[in-house]
Amino acid sequence: MTEFVIWAEKYRPNRIDDLIDQEHVKERVKMFLKEKNLPHMLFTGPPGTGKTTLALIIAKEIYGENWKANVLELNASDERGIDVIRGKVKEFARTKAIGDFPFKIIIMDEADALTQEAQQALRRTMEDFSSVTRFILCCNYSSKIIEPIQSRCAVFRFKALPEKAQREFIDRIVKGENLEIDEKAIEAIINIAEGDLRKVANLLQAAASISKKITADMIYEVASLAKPKEVEEMLNLALSGTIEGFNKAREKLIYFIVKEGLAGEDLIKEIYRQALKLNIQDDKKIELIEKIGEYEFRINEGGDALIQLTALLAQIALIGKSIKK
Ligand SMILES: Nc1ncnc2c1ncn2[C@@H]1O[C@H](COP(=O)(O)OP(=O)(O)OP(=O)(O)O)[C@@H](O)[C@H]1O
Ligand SMILES: [Mg+2]
Repeated sequence: MTEFVIWAEKYRPNRIDDLIDQEHVKERVKMFLKEKNLPHMLFTGPPGTGKTTLALIIAKEIYGENWKANVLELNASDERGIDVIRGKVKEFARTKAIGDFPFKIIIMDEADALTQEAQQALRRTMEDFSSVTRFILCCNYSSKIIEPIQSRCAVFRFKALPEKAQREFIDRIVKGENLEIDEKAIEAIINIAEGDLRKVANLLQAAASISKKITADMIYEVASLAKPKEVEEMLNLALSGTIEGFNKAREKLIYFIVKEGLAGEDLIKEIYRQALKLNIQDDKKIELIEKIGEYEFRINEGGDALIQLTALLAQIALIGKSIKK
């Protein structure tokens, strides 16, 4: 299998000066870094605007190469309840930070996914460990964060990237990947991405998988939702029960997920619809539907869509192999 790199990750800046736009935010963060005095922070704003990126940059600037040992990354929507979070924080905060910065950093993504109750508990956790840790909370809606947490944090508001910034990011990727792109295609991307740079990267990557010469038509094409026929093809490839079929199905899956806006939840619903229509033995169809239900649950519980759906394809391939032909 060929190595697959997601461009949104590949082009995630590692230094504060490489973060595009968000000047007001960068200036304040630089001040805190200079004084080596980090408050708890709340990063809020639309998706794909640099919140997680800046949190990671801060960790890298403070700890250098050792950053991973000093940083705990939590995703609120992935964690099963505040007890798990508290347990992890406690465990992590037990040992001292390595290096001369006296705090460890906890990055909590999607903090607005926590219930009010969980946020109260989080607030207590922040207080209990404030002598040894600093929290960076990230969220899309600060209004969903309870007042006592907001008041304990320095709040940073990220904005959707303006056109100029989006052009700069497109330019980086176009140069980095040796692409050719015309003005109309750039306008199409800006039109669809609406200031979300993750979307920009995903659109470019999806289009470039068709051709390195990118046109507006291609951008609009890749931005559309999964076409039922393509999902059906993916299912049939997996059902062939051969390793070649599985690999091709997996390639299709990767393509779907990198496409703009194609969420795992949407994809698995389409897989379900197509599975119902398949012309296979009844008992095999039942087995298939049962598997789809299981993976749908995992994705909704916060499992990584690419990993879960690849595992589902593997299950489908096994079922396909067992079908009498
Ligand atoms: N300001 C920026 N400068 C350069 N690249 C950016 C910027 N913002 C986002 N990106 C690109 O988009 C990707 C996703 O950004 P990031 O993870 O920081 O988004 P986010 O603001 O945390 O979004 P979400 O709310 O969905 O978690 C990054 O890996 C990077 O490629
Ligand atoms: Mg994020």
